[in-house]
Amino acid sequence: MNATILPNNENHYPVLLNEIISIISPQNGGTFIDCTLGQGGYSKAFLKFNNTKVIAIDRDFDCKTIAKKIEEVHKERFLFFHKKFSDIDKIKIENSKIKAIIFDLGYSYTQIKDPNKGLSFESKGNLNMRMGLNNFSANEVINKLSQKDLELIFKYFGEDKDSKIISKKIVEQRVKSNLNTEHLVRIINSVKKKNYKIHNATKIFQAIRIFVNKEISELVYGLINATKILDIDGILLTVSFHSLEDKIIKYFFKSLSEEKKISRYFPEEKNHNKLFKLLSKRPIVPSQKEISVNKPSRSAKLRYVIKKKKISNFEHDFLKKFSKLLEIESLSNKL
Ligand SMILES: C[S@@+](CC[C@H](N)C(=O)[O-])C[C@H]1O[C@@H](n2cnc3c(N)ncnc32)[C@H](O)[C@@H]1O
Repeated sequence: MNATILPNNENHYPVLLNEIISIISPQNGGTFIDCTLGQGGYSKAFLKFNNTKVIAIDRDFDCKTIAKKIEEVHKERFLFFHKKFSDIDKIKIENSKIKAIIFDLGYSYTQIKDPNKGLSFESKGNLNMRMGLNNFSANEVINKLSQKDLELIFKYFGEDKDSKIISKKIVEQRVKSNLNTEHLVRIINSVKKKNYKIHNATKIFQAIRIFVNKEISELVYGLINATKILDIDGILLTVSFHSLEDKIIKYFFKSLSEEKKISRYFPEEKNHNKLFKLLSKRPIVPSQKEISVNKPSRSAKLRYVIKKKKISNFEHDFLKKFSKLLEIESLSNKL
C-alpha cells in the first residue's frame, strides 16, 4: 500500500491536489469533508480560499496535533473529528450543504516512518500496524489466528500466491516464541525467491494492515454513509492506491450510475433514477511531473461521482458483491 509521501524527503506531498481542486472548485466557497486529514495537505489547500469550511476526520490520534494547528489559523472554518470515516454519518453537521467529500486512502509518510506504528516491514520489534481506534493489533493476528484464517487473509487481502505455505510456517514457528516483525519477514523471505521489484514481504504486510485496520469495511461503509449525507449535486471523490480498493470504488461508482433497463421488451426505456452521475469511467492519474517529484504517487487513482438523486436502500447489491471480503474481515471476532 502506498501513501502520499516523498521518498528521501521529509516533506508531505498531497497527491493529485490540483486535479481535486479543479473538480470541487473551492474558490467558489462551500463546505467540504476531508475524510482523511493526514498531514492536512488537502484541508489546508481548501481553506486557502476564503469562503470555504472544512470538516476533517482522521482515525490517527497524532492527527489531533495537526488539526489543532489548522484550527488556530482558521478557527471559524475548520472542525476536526477523531473518528473512523465509516462513522461519517454520525457527525453533526449544522446548516451546511456538503459540496464534496474526499477520501485519500492509505497512509501518510509520517505514519509509515513511525516506528511505534510498525506499518513497514523495516520496523523492529513487536508487530502492531494499528492506525488508530483499533480493537486488536497485528501481533494478535499473527500469533493467535488459525493457519486457515491466516491463509484466507493473505490470499484475499494480499493476493499472495504463497499464502498457504507462509501461514503454515507462521503457525509452526510461533510455537517456540511469540513472532515479531523481524521473525515474520524472515519467514516470508525463507519461502520466496528474492524479488528485485518489490520487497518479498509487501503483499503479506498489506494483507495484515488491511485486516488490522478493517480497511474493507471502512471503505465500504465510508462510501455508503458519505453518499447518504452528501447533498444533491455534491461530489464524492476517492484517491486509492491498490487494486483491491480501486475495485470496490469502481464498482460502487459504476453500478450506481448505470441506467438500468426497466423492461426487456422495451430495452430503450431506461430507469432515470440513477444515484450518481459518472463523468468518466477512467480514473485520473498523476502526471509524469507529479510522479517525478513524488514516486509513490504513481499508483494513485482519482475517481469521482456527482450525487444526483436521494435514494434509500441503494447499498444492498454493493454489500452483497463484497460480502466475501467483509466476511474475512469479521474473522477478527475470534480475537
Ligand atoms: C494518505 S493519508 C491522507 C493525507 C492527506 N490527504 C494530506 O494531504 O495530508 C491517509 C490518512 O487517512 C487516515 N485514515 C485511513 N483510514 C481511515 C479511516 N478508516 N478513518 C479515518 N481516517 C483514516 C490515516 O490515518 C491517514 O492519516
